[in-house]
Amino acid sequence: MRPQSAYTTLRLEGVFSSNEEKLMAEYETFQHDVLVIGAGGAGLRAAIEASAAGVSVGMVCKSLLGKAHTVMAEGGIAAALANVDDRDNWKVHFADTMRGGQYANNWRMAELHAREAPDRVRELEAWGAVFDRTDDGRILQRNFGGHKYPRLAHVGDRTGLEMIRTLQDHGIHQGIDVHMEQTVLTLLKDGDRVVGAFGYDRERGRFKVYRAKAVVLATGGIGRAYKITSNSWEYTGDGHALAYRAGAELIDMEFVQFHPTGMVWPPSVRGILVTEGVRGEGGILTNKEGRRFMFDDIPANYKTQTADNEEEGWRYCQGDKNARRPPELLTRDHVARCIVRQIKEGRGSPHGGVYLDIAWIKKRVANGEAYIKRKLPSMYHQFKQLADIDITGEPMEVGPTTHYVMGGIRVDSDRQMSRVPGLFAAGECAAGINGANRLGGNSLSDLLVFGKRAGEFAAKFARENQLGAVNEEEMREASREALAPFDRAANVQGEGAYQVQHDLQEMMQDLVGIVRREDEMVQALNGITELKKRAANVAVMGNREFNPGWHTALDLNNLLTVSEAVARAGLERKESRGAHFREDFPDKADKFAKVNTIIWQGEDGRMQIRLEPLPEMPEHLKQIIEEMK
Ligand code: FUM
Repeated sequence: MRPQSAYTTLRLEGVFSSNEEKLMAEYETFQHDVLVIGAGGAGLRAAIEASAAGVSVGMVCKSLLGKAHTVMAEGGIAAALANVDDRDNWKVHFADTMRGGQYANNWRMAELHAREAPDRVRELEAWGAVFDRTDDGRILQRNFGGHKYPRLAHVGDRTGLEMIRTLQDHGIHQGIDVHMEQTVLTLLKDGDRVVGAFGYDRERGRFKVYRAKAVVLATGGIGRAYKITSNSWEYTGDGHALAYRAGAELIDMEFVQFHPTGMVWPPSVRGILVTEGVRGEGGILTNKEGRRFMFDDIPANYKTQTADNEEEGWRYCQGDKNARRPPELLTRDHVARCIVRQIKEGRGSPHGGVYLDIAWIKKRVANGEAYIKRKLPSMYHQFKQLADIDITGEPMEVGPTTHYVMGGIRVDSDRQMSRVPGLFAAGECAAGINGANRLGGNSLSDLLVFGKRAGEFAAKFARENQLGAVNEEEMREASREALAPFDRAANVQGEGAYQVQHDLQEMMQDLVGIVRREDEMVQALNGITELKKRAANVAVMGNREFNPGWHTALDLNNLLTVSEAVARAGLERKESRGAHFREDFPDKADKFAKVNTIIWQGEDGRMQIRLEPLPEMPEHLKQIIEEMK
């Protein structure tokens, strides 16, 4: 028999100052062995694993099941299956990941990831995922930036979507209890240990208590702290901020990935992702002069692997094992900066981007139009419907978009537990594997590998521990805070939450974006202090039933926390490495070569930061890196 989750209604005793609070003194309470917060790829994979381990599992998601940023990893899952190039293996994948991350990665996580990704992909296939196929029927793999061999298992440009569909179908048959459209406001603790979460249901505005023996955070990223982003409204750094406030550490928050290619026009769709798969299939980047500018700036450490002419780059995209990759497939941090330089120096496209051209391959392949539509069906429809551009005949306008944060909750590499007992994290909100820059496609394999591990060890923790006690005062305080914006509206004080959110996004984009400087980051920190005061004073009109203004007001705290963490860590790292580029320190510095920035909440509630050396890499891994060089 499957383990049972429990459900009760709890009435809190206490003194409540308003009718609103009296009403809210009743909380629905759910009880699970393992609670997973977030239902993207990592959350689903964790929930499946925990459930398979025989414990009861609840999964809370901010929007509807199936709507996750995972679908924005369109181009594929990186795994050394060696289906297209038999020279590939986990060691090459490990070395590529470390080099892409500029050796700031947690080497143990990079090792586990490279070793286990192929099994996780085959498992997904066994659960029903559809993939594009090689001529002999194996999973097809494509090129992506920074990967030495064609490594991305894919289905057209809808891989993330297929992954979510498969995990969801598999997951719902495991008996996981899904709580949709819920926002978690705080994690509940019993002493040092996390024992559940307190939140509200977005549709009706009612508070909920989730008691659990172990909690897995899988809430994704922080993209909504920026104005231009591929992330949708859910990605407000919730898991990062919840963990931070519960006593976990955040590492490497300065490393925010700006994907080189997002849509730039029309304004309403600015930031929507244009998959790296376009470049993997042979798409080229040009400026307004028609120049393929990526040939002008090939970093020294990639020179021997990068083609220096169009012909060779194209042969690489067509699978010629002796050809070197085109410069459009250098790592994302580098490509994004090259694009920004073109735009800043006046060689950009009319709407502030550059051109990405896949139509040119019609000169090289038979039935080019059908070929492009088959390889990149979503891109074809996206541009046709949103921008009235036919990508089989004309170039796209693209520019960098905030896509991913490499930094996040510090976890133990094998088990994925944070320093707070009972609190696990996986996927984008956890950190370590990607170092200073993530290679495309590594996010999907990361969330499969570490989602599984988080689920397994959370289930183990749940079996070894009893439910903890929940503190009613903690919940009362959280509900008072959550309802305060309504009281301010009643007293005709305060401003709307949207203005504060908008000002934060503009500021982060301008001052803590792709190119950073000390004075600008200091200005951003001062700005965040001001915005915190404004956020503490926002007012919300109306009632709690599906009130987007209220939801935004409650997101602000998290957005401000993660923004502060990015700016503080960015200031601390006085060098340029991976996704963190400082105009005032344009080179890498030995002092920062192998350190993490660590952020935590001090006793006084203020954000603290320190640098900490990475553990020494064991000889056998050093040797692999040496060999691959
Ligand atoms: O470009 C893309 O398809 C994104 C992939 C990723 O972020 O891993």
